Amino acid sequence: MLNVCVLGCGRAGMIHARSYAGSVAGARLIALCDPVAGVRNAAAAELDVNRCYADWQEALADTDIDAVIVVTPTGLHHDIVVAAAAAGKHVFCEKPMASSEKECDEMIAACARAGVKLQIGFMRRFDESIRHAKEAVDAGEIGDVVLVKSLTRGPSRPKDWMYDVRASYGPIGEVSSHDLDMLRWFAGSEVASVYAIGGNFRSPEVAGDHPEWYDSFAMTLSFDDGKLGMIDGAQYVRYGYDARLEVLGTHGSILVGQQPREAYTVARPDGSVRRPMNDSWTYLFREAYVHEAQAFVDAIAHGTEPLATGHDGKMAVRLVNMGLASLLGHTVVFDTEEHP
Ligand SMILES: NC(=O)c1ccc[n+]([C@@H]2O[C@H](COP(=O)([O-])OP(=O)(O)OC[C@H]3O[C@@H](n4cnc5c(N)ncnc54)[C@H](O)[C@@H]3O)[C@@H](O)[C@H]2O)c1
Repeated sequence: MLNVCVLGCGRAGMIHARSYAGSVAGARLIALCDPVAGVRNAAAAELDVNRCYADWQEALADTDIDAVIVVTPTGLHHDIVVAAAAAGKHVFCEKPMASSEKECDEMIAACARAGVKLQIGFMRRFDESIRHAKEAVDAGEIGDVVLVKSLTRGPSRPKDWMYDVRASYGPIGEVSSHDLDMLRWFAGSEVASVYAIGGNFRSPEVAGDHPEWYDSFAMTLSFDDGKLGMIDGAQYVRYGYDARLEVLGTHGSILVGQQPREAYTVARPDGSVRRPMNDSWTYLFREAYVHEAQAFVDAIAHGTEPLATGHDGKMAVRLVNMGLASLLGHTVVFDTEEHP
């Protein structure tokens, strides 16, 4: 049995904590950590966990804990992951992996040095529909991949801190880290260049204080091997949570998306058709999170490489930075680094 501690019991932390509290074979949730007493106590009561820490350093000193799930605000990921590896804990870390590529490199090196696993939270790789699409692409069902298109749009009003895009990256980082990972995964190649445009269409009242804020963007990408990529992303769309993916091949295409909330459709005499819209990532990807957790535990048990590695996390951080630089600078941004 792998003894797991979840660090950070907020929105995403509780999804992971619930998985480890009952749905993951070979692992059990033995501890929780959150500095906010109310959050910590509510999580402990719901999940019947009696080992609770306010300070992540105390949690890392607990020798009964074999693995940590890092779901704190992104700015803390680096310090916690480096210390967790040094303490010999296997690490699952949410995306975005860190605030810079340098931090990502240090996290990867710390885990390699300690001989512990490092998996990044790209749960879409574990979504059943997306996995079927990947298997079909890998089996050559649509020929060679030409173009990968992905979009993510979130319904909610941005939190106040997000309007500073130098701190939050805006929707390129907040919602589209996952799209960038999907493009790399399906293309099987690294990105060579990025061009992004965007604007503030829904919150004119914040434009004075935050002239750089954009709530919607469109991005085109080219890959090292010539493949093409497109992403659109947005926040505060109100109508629901929307995540779609299309892969165009030389002789076919694959579409994943427009998953309704419920499996019913209302058709009316006036010709209108209504399907309940999916409203949250927590619902759309609920099973993917459990599969993702199971894969982490299995990778530890079998000594195999996780499906979403530290390198994948680092490359997504690089692409988010390139995308924001392109959008703010009104220019194409090229990746000049060597790709391994
Ligand atoms: N994979 C996904 O789809 C997905 C979805 C949502 C969030 N995330 C990522 O997960 C992370 C958390 O996001 P969230 O939306 O759950 O945020 P949140 O604000 O809801 O939760 C963060 C929690 O961390 C706690 N925390 C703060 N400082 C801490 C510390 N020093 N030690 C331990 N806990 C601490 C906070 O009290 C809070 O309960 C972010 O990196 C975010 O980008 C990923």
